[in-house]
Amino acid sequence: MPGNDAENIYKNDLDLLSPQSGDVYLVAYPKAGVTWMTEIVTAIYREYAVENRSVGREFSNAVRAHAFCDVCPMARRRNVHNQSKGNTNVVGFDANGKEVYENDEQKRRRIISLHFPLKRMEKMMPEVFTDDGVKFIYVARNPKDIAVSYYHFHRMNEALPTPESWEQFLDDFVKGDVRWGSCLEHMREWNKKQHDLSAAGKRGQLLWLTFESLKKDLHGAMRLISNHLGLNLSDKGLANAVKRCTFASMKADPNRNHSRNTIFKGDFLRKGKVGDWKSKFTVEQNINFNKLMARELGNNFSHLRLEDDEV
Ligand code: A3P
Repeated sequence: MPGNDAENIYKNDLDLLSPQSGDVYLVAYPKAGVTWMTEIVTAIYREYAVENRSVGREFSNAVRAHAFCDVCPMARRRNVHNQSKGNTNVVGFDANGKEVYENDEQKRRRIISLHFPLKRMEKMMPEVFTDDGVKFIYVARNPKDIAVSYYHFHRMNEALPTPESWEQFLDDFVKGDVRWGSCLEHMREWNKKQHDLSAAGKRGQLLWLTFESLKKDLHGAMRLISNHLGLNLSDKGLANAVKRCTFASMKADPNRNHSRNTIFKGDFLRKGKVGDWKSKFTVEQNINFNKLMARELGNNFSHLRLEDDEV
């Protein structure tokens, strides 16, 4: 679990990433689909650049930054390496995976993905919600599918402890005794934030989407996302962007399927399905988890819009 040292590391990363108008923050509990959302926003930016050549370069040059370096040690290692060679910090990567440095002078939009629970985000970046030019997209997913995906991720990622068993992992997941803490609390708190922002007249700042809704209608969801970002795409542009973001397209592309990441010993793009929890949960585990969801998510449950869940 991240302790004070980790908080200092995050703090350094976030100082590098102090919010700027035009930033989009993609927030999700691990395994809810933040990598997918990063590709989606990148694809929308790419098509926007094609259709708007005069202003497009800042979008086609967008930098993608991941502010969760304890589970993404590659970026940190590269920073240390670059600093030892007298270079400045790496602040992220362009759409081709090339490093972008702190002293880079190009105008670039920033796509920043992170897993922070709301309270930590508010503590570490209190100013992030005050700039109306900063947009958020929260990706939620059926916590049971997240648990199964997270379990497999622990088994294939050398940077994470290998679980003793599925039973043990589920137990830890339920207690929130895993990296990034309780999944249910994460969703509940961020969902409440969306409602608070709406009540404060800032409805347009945070778009709440589910993995399930992306699966059900990727085209419709990507139209919502481009509208949220204020980027009008033609039907053709949107269709091109959608094509790049299907599971099959991402999985077949070595630049986007993470197969070159040496700490991964299995497929990062594993199944990409709704309802894979049925492959692991026993009947009893399912009953107990449903009770937990009802208890933890309470009235907010319907607002989470996991309507495609088959509990
Ligand atoms: P599974 O392990 O269930 O396959 P994150 O990026 O937050 O770590 O989430 C990873 C999960 O998102 C994995 O789930 C992965 O397969 C899924 N995913 C990534 N891109 C996807 C896409 N284009 N379509 C469907 N699922 C996708």
